Amino acid sequence: KKTLRVALLGCGTVGREVVRLIESQSDDLTARVGAELQIAGIAVRRGGRDRGVDPALLTTDAHGLAVRDDIDLVVEVVGGIEPARSWLVDALKAGKSVVSANKALLAEDGATLQEAAAAGGADLYYEAAVAGAIPILRPLRESLHGDRITRITGIVNGTTNYILSSMDSTGAGFNEALDEATELGYAEADPTADVEGFDAAAKAAILASLAFHTRVTAADVHREGITEVTAADVASARAMGCTVKLLCIAERHTDADGGESVSVRVHPAMLPRTHPLASVGDAFNAVFVEADAAGQLMFYGRGAGGAPTASAVLGDLVAVARNRLAGARATPESPYADLRIRPMAEA
Ligand code: HSE
Repeated sequence: KKTLRVALLGCGTVGREVVRLIESQSDDLTARVGAELQIAGIAVRRGGRDRGVDPALLTTDAHGLAVRDDIDLVVEVVGGIEPARSWLVDALKAGKSVVSANKALLAEDGATLQEAAAAGGADLYYEAAVAGAIPILRPLRESLHGDRITRITGIVNGTTNYILSSMDSTGAGFNEALDEATELGYAEADPTADVEGFDAAAKAAILASLAFHTRVTAADVHREGITEVTAADVASARAMGCTVKLLCIAERHTDADGGESVSVRVHPAMLPRTHPLASVGDAFNAVFVEADAAGQLMFYGRGAGGAPTASAVLGDLVAVARNRLAGARATPESPYADLRIRPMAEA
């Protein structure tokens, strides 16, 4: 019986759920992949804690595990730029296909990972990095490949969507709604990345890069969070038949000289209640895509949480595992053009 050996880097909420799904769906996954997926090691920052996984698999040497000879595939759910980038670059160069949920890294330096994947003949998938369970990156990368995407409008941060939805339905102010989101476990202890729009900006950069086949990094994204949104703003939006949402908006433009450029921004916006995104409540995410031939498409679902994010990781893992068995590589991402990024004043 064939076996593919998986290194798991990170064992937090998502990592543990990945282990649980691989174990509980073992027979199905084996049938789907054509080989057994076996977790061969789990890298954690600190040993000694009970994580509900086999302690014999734990190691604090993530790099050593990622490049180990017996490892076929690497799953990274650690996050952050370094040291995750070094681990993944070396794993990819050593020919190990990588599944990552690391939006910060992909948004800052996806290019370096893609070069390493090409050098090692390995696959790099990262569906879980944007909008959790929602399949959106592979549709952009593959299904819509023959079309020309003109605009993406997304609600890609669940915490802020929960806060704004709650302000809209209860009339609460920002701080009150944030406290509620923290109590319910939606908002992190330090909610800065969410409420200041950094998390959404990283996701917007990844979406725009794939949709427009051009390099957009988080630093290229104009960003404004929701901390200044008041109960009065939400009430006046309501009076105008609108709701306030933190939107990421990525657009393709034709310049006066006939060339193309893109603009990418994240900010609170008034959205007419008739817009499909206006009904996306609670901590849900949705991505609205407009393309020349396809017209309007909407992708909706859970953007965070252990199981929804693990679903996206598993989908990628099955794909890279099947490629590995077939001795094939996924179609690499389309060559990236270097379109001009419009400053906000022009967008
Ligand atoms: N903090 C993120 C959110 C989690 O609220 O959407 C997933 O990236």
